[in-house]
Amino acid sequence: MIKIAIIGGTGVYDPKILSNVRSEETMTPYGKVEYKVGEYAGKDVAFLPRHGSNHSIAPHLINYRANIWAMKKIGVENIIATTAVGSLNIEMKPGDFVIVDQFLDFTKSRIGTFYEGGERGVVHVDVTEPYCPILRSIISDAGKALDISIHKNGVYVCTEGPRFETPAEINMFAKLGGDLVGMTNVPEAVLAREAEMCYSTVSMVTNYAAGISPQPLTHAEVVETMSANSENIKRLIMKSIELIEIGKNACKCKMALAEYGGFKL
Ligand code: HPA
Repeated sequence: MIKIAIIGGTGVYDPKILSNVRSEETMTPYGKVEYKVGEYAGKDVAFLPRHGSNHSIAPHLINYRANIWAMKKIGVENIIATTAVGSLNIEMKPGDFVIVDQFLDFTKSRIGTFYEGGERGVVHVDVTEPYCPILRSIISDAGKALDISIHKNGVYVCTEGPRFETPAEINMFAKLGGDLVGMTNVPEAVLAREAEMCYSTVSMVTNYAAGISPQPLTHAEVVETMSANSENIKRLIMKSIELIEIGKNACKCKMALAEYGGFKL
């Protein structure tokens, strides 16, 4: 069974860290999902590039529900996602890694739940701790073992995109307590919680956010910084996969919908 999935964000399109890679697909109520499966450290690992393998899917059009449903359906329990982010926090510099622990949701047009009423009913899932604390500490341990410095906490502001933000928006987000800005962690993290999966994100700072950066933002800058640090992202993910003890996470993620009788595919 495949118990671990990597959801690759901008700049992470390639499952080269895995061996014996094969392409697979599965059907969900939200459409078909194509992904790769390979092995690392004796574990089967799924790899799903969030924006498609050639960055062709805009953040607001990603089929988040299909992606998370598909991973749940094939048996995944642990998801490590990567995201490229702008930084609002001067301490979090381009090239730095951050294991985010909270989010602020400024998305506008996305369906953020598997529970829209009807047969599935309505669910109000708890997101007091939106990212799995066990996976977060595993990624932190992986960083320590590899001597890669990581910020252990950060507040991720999720915008709708696909445009970058105005300096006024960034100023507002900073006042609200945001550290980082990106376009994809919501609803992905929320859906994974509804699906009772352990989910964590490694954010890679690719730029200072609009108005903090001395120059206008470009996607090329984001991709360049990601690729300059791709070796470290890869090492971090590989070490984290090694450290995951399948079925042993002592967290509450798997019981997120206990009040509702559990998540059902
Ligand atoms: N804003 C939003 N998303 C991003 C940024 C940014 O500055 N950098 C990378 N992803």
